[in-house]
Amino acid sequence: MADPTTVRTDARRHHDPQVRGFASDNYAGTHPEILAAIALANGGHQIAYGEDEYTGHLQRVMHSHFGPTAEAFPVFNGTGANVVSLQAMTDRWGAVICAESAHINVDEGGAPERVGGLKLLTVPTPDGKLTPELIDRQAYGWDDEHRAMPQVVSITQNTELGTVYTPDEIRAICDHAHGHGMKVHLDGARIANAAASLDVPMRTFTNTVGVDVLSFGGTKNGAIFGEAVVVLDPDAVRAMKHLRKLSMQLASKMRFVSVQLEALLAGDLWLRNARHANAMAQRLAEGVRGVDGVEILHPVQANAVFARLPHEVSERLQKRFRFYFWDEAAGDVRWMCAFDTTEEDVDAFVLALKEEMAR
Ligand SMILES: Cc1ncc(COP(=O)(O)O)c(C=O)c1O
Repeated sequence: MADPTTVRTDARRHHDPQVRGFASDNYAGTHPEILAAIALANGGHQIAYGEDEYTGHLQRVMHSHFGPTAEAFPVFNGTGANVVSLQAMTDRWGAVICAESAHINVDEGGAPERVGGLKLLTVPTPDGKLTPELIDRQAYGWDDEHRAMPQVVSITQNTELGTVYTPDEIRAICDHAHGHGMKVHLDGARIANAAASLDVPMRTFTNTVGVDVLSFGGTKNGAIFGEAVVVLDPDAVRAMKHLRKLSMQLASKMRFVSVQLEALLAGDLWLRNARHANAMAQRLAEGVRGVDGVEILHPVQANAVFARLPHEVSERLQKRFRFYFWDEAAGDVRWMCAFDTTEEDVDAFVLALKEEMAR
């Protein structure tokens, strides 16, 4: 009988792999080292639903980053990681305090509310970052049965606006939240970019400073797909395993999620990819900073550049490079760099921007 794993494909390439834009780090492909790791994990049979060798190894790799009590629960995507984490950290009557700009509030299609049954208590922030003072705008009424009870503070590192919390800022949030009996969740969809930006190990701004549960992001850092809920404090969660399944985030062939995260984290691929993406964002920001009529809106601390420029210029530029408006009425745009963005991509984009501004 023919070997069922023999390579034969009728697939065709349907895109130009040399075309890259600045719309999202999710537009990028997969890092070749991750594809190679997936190929190594292929073949033979492995126990499904997480009892495989790769998920076992991933736990040990996670320990090397986050200490021996960390437990990783691989999931399909970041929305799933957030929804499963937050459900496991709250009671049915609980609520989650977050920035108004948080992904859980603006970009998850209502999944925290509708799938997780969670009440979000939002706070406007100037730069995407919460502080103890900002948290206090929503941290009250624990004994009031008329109000959803604040039980978790969720922060995003790096933030949706490309800014990065310092370890001390996160420590202050954790101390404040814990002082009120609340737990802290960190949406780490871009945690690698934050660590690269701060030039510290990831634990320095997570478990070392009191973060209880983390959504660990692999997708934006070079994986095909794959994230993990990483429980840093086992006392902060309940029924994680059951909630992952109930929330449709339990992969049967989990080895292929786990091996991607292992490939990122066992060596320094996670850091190489993040450093590169951040460096490309710096290059882009430097390139456009002096251009008359272009304003950089937030400190460029990770792999995103937010800018304000004339609307018609953005529209012309979008015909040459993909990117999104962030606040169309204000003329604000977001330019994202990825692990595979090249210096030539950035330089060509900056040149195109200058040409369109001059027209
Ligand atoms: C801050 C943040 N959290 C979580 C996610 C994960 O979302 P997804 O469900 O698309 O993987 C994203 C993706 O854009 C994000 O930017």
